[in-house]
Formats: sequence, structure tokens, C-alpha cells
Amino acid sequence: MKTKTFKWAILGPGKIAHKFAKGLDAVPGAELYAVASRSLSKAEEFAKEFKVPKFYGSYEDLVNDTEVDIVYIATPHVFHREHSLLCLKHKKAVLCEKPFAMNKEQVLEMIQTAKEEKVFLMEALWTYFLPHYQYVLELVKSEKYGKITGLEADFGFEAPFLPEKRLFNKELGGGSLLDIGIYPVFAALSLLGKPETIAAKATFSETDVDTSCSIVFNYRNEVRADLLSTLNKQTSTTATINFEKAGLTINRRFHEPTSITILQNNKEEKITFDVDTNGYNFEAEHVQEMLSQERTESSVMSFEKSLELIIVLDQIRKEIGLVY
Ligand SMILES: NC(=O)c1ccc[n+]([C@@H]2O[C@H](COP(=O)([O-])OP(=O)(O)OC[C@H]3O[C@@H](n4cnc5c(N)ncnc54)[C@H](OP(=O)(O)O)[C@@H]3O)[C@@H](O)[C@H]2O)c1
Repeated sequence: MKTKTFKWAILGPGKIAHKFAKGLDAVPGAELYAVASRSLSKAEEFAKEFKVPKFYGSYEDLVNDTEVDIVYIATPHVFHREHSLLCLKHKKAVLCEKPFAMNKEQVLEMIQTAKEEKVFLMEALWTYFLPHYQYVLELVKSEKYGKITGLEADFGFEAPFLPEKRLFNKELGGGSLLDIGIYPVFAALSLLGKPETIAAKATFSETDVDTSCSIVFNYRNEVRADLLSTLNKQTSTTATINFEKAGLTINRRFHEPTSITILQNNKEEKITFDVDTNGYNFEAEHVQEMLSQERTESSVMSFEKSLELIIVLDQIRKEIGLVY
């Protein structure tokens, strides 16, 4: 039986779009069919690099192409709402980069639109779909090592201060929390669930975005998650989970394909996962599976999960006084 080929399109061919295109190349049944940039020449360049048959010099032209099945949105955070709505209203399935949008209200509007249009929408929280992360989630669920007693997760690197660029530009939704802090926050939510209380502290750049953000999630029974994002320095970018009977570290960098190390009875065991791609293929495969089942919502990165994530990010921003 011949399986359907899904025609993917990329909207906003920047840094991450290049990586995603490579990942998509490893997905059976996926064709990278179109790309749209605000500049036709940039779209053409990308199309040449990845052998994409169609290229457009505007996002509107892309969504009017009736052949496109799924659009991967890879523009800066502040445009996720606008570009998702544009695609959904043209009946295109959407895989939109993280953070899903800038705040809860925007995410609710996107979800509402997807429901009204009866079109698939998912936040591209790719870590969720990686084999090592799925393995850890299963381990937690099985309680093989007992319950979790604590979590530490960080994501940090030294970013050159370029005020115009996305990371430090407030108008583009800059700052560490929404860009990389989202991963430690996601780790805590997916491993431990919603916290009872949240405390957070941040440092700011002269462009008024957070250059670092340290967060504590408090749970019942004195369980806590210590989370950090920073653009000021390199950090280990690991996630360490303490269980009642063992310790588990998701090795560097925990949000991308990697290994884990389990420490029990003073013995270390390293578990590796057989991934020979950059990892972006897994979320794309999942989207295709959902579309094959005619679903309009992911069974993994559901609307509820995206809402939970943005609500907590909103709460942290309130704590540190970060307003966009
Ligand atoms: N999942 C991951 O691992 C991962 C990693 C990095 C980033 N991300 C997410 O992906 C998104 C894009 O990040 P990136 O690092 O790829 O950004 P980037 O390199 O700056 O690319 C963003 C693209 O968006 C388009 N764009 C549209 N309006 C824009 C505007 N006013 N200013 C700047 N660009 C504009 C541009 O494409 P055209 O001008 O060609 O249309 C640009 O190439 C962010 O939301 C980020 O959080 C995810």
C-alpha cells in the first residue's frame, strides 16, 4: 500500500528552519515542497540549498498554494500568533516553533482558531518526541526508582550582545526565558507537573530583556525544581532528576538527542540512544501520524500542555517583571 506524501512548507527560513529542513529529510513520506521568506531571493537561496520545488517572496503567497499540507512556522516568537492564524485560516496544518506565542491570550486565540477551522495545530516542542526524553518519561511513570525528590535543569550559553538580533531585541520577543528557559520549565512540567508555588529572579540587558532567569518550582513534600536559563555564561545544560532510589542525569545538552546516566548504589550506568539525525525528524513524524489519523490536536503536545506551559511562563514573567 502506498502511503501518503505530506507536502511541507517552511515559513521564515532562518537558523532553525535550516536545521528543521535537514531533520525533515529523514522523515518517510515527507516532502519539503515550499518555502516562503519576506525576500524572494532568500527563499530562492533556501530552495536551492534544500532542493525545494516552490519558493515564495511572501508568506501570503505560500498559504495560497493549495498543494501545501503543513506549514512549519520558524519566525521570531512575536509573530507566531499572526503567522499561525494566517496558515490556519487558509486551512494549512501548523507546526509552530516554541514558545507557541507571547502569552496565554495569544495561545488561546490560536487554539480557538484551529478548532474553528478544524485544522491541526501543534507547538514544536521537539524535546518531547526525542527517544531519550520518552525513555525518561516512561521511567518516571514506572516509578522504577521511586518518586522524584528533586530536579535541577539549566540551559546557558554566552551570547554576544547584539541588540538588533532576536535574542536581545525586545520587539522580537528577546530574552533567555522564552528562548531557552522554556526547556528547563518544560522539563519540570513534564516530569513533575504543575508546581504549587513559583519564585523567580532575573538579570536584564540594556535592551530590557532577561539575560538570565533562575526559577524555583515548589511542589508538595518539599520536592523542588531548580531551573536556570542564561545568555551570560556557558552552563552544563543538563537535567538531573533525583529519585528516592537513584539519580538520573540527562547529559548535555538535555533538550536535544543525547544520552542519560543513572547513578544507583554508587554505580553509574550510561544509556545511549540510536539517533543518527539532528532530532527534528521525530516531531515531524508525529505530526504526519496525527494528520494520517485525521486528528486536529497532538496526542503528545496537546493544547492543554501548551496552555500549561505558557501560563507558567506568564507567571514567571510576572515574577521577574518582564513585560512585552
Ligand atoms: N526548536 C529549536 O530547537 C529552536 C532553536 C532555535 C530557535 N527556535 C525558535 O524558532 C524561532 C526562530 O528562531 P531562529 O533562531 O531561527 O530565528 P532567525 O534565525 O532570526 O530566523 C527567523 C526568521 O523569521 C523571519 N522573520 C519574519 N519577520 C521577521 C522580523 N521582523 N525580524 C526577523 N525575522 C523575521 C525571517 O525570515 P524571512 O525574512 O526570510 O522571512 C527570519 O529568517 C524562534 O521562535 C525560536 O524560539 C527553536
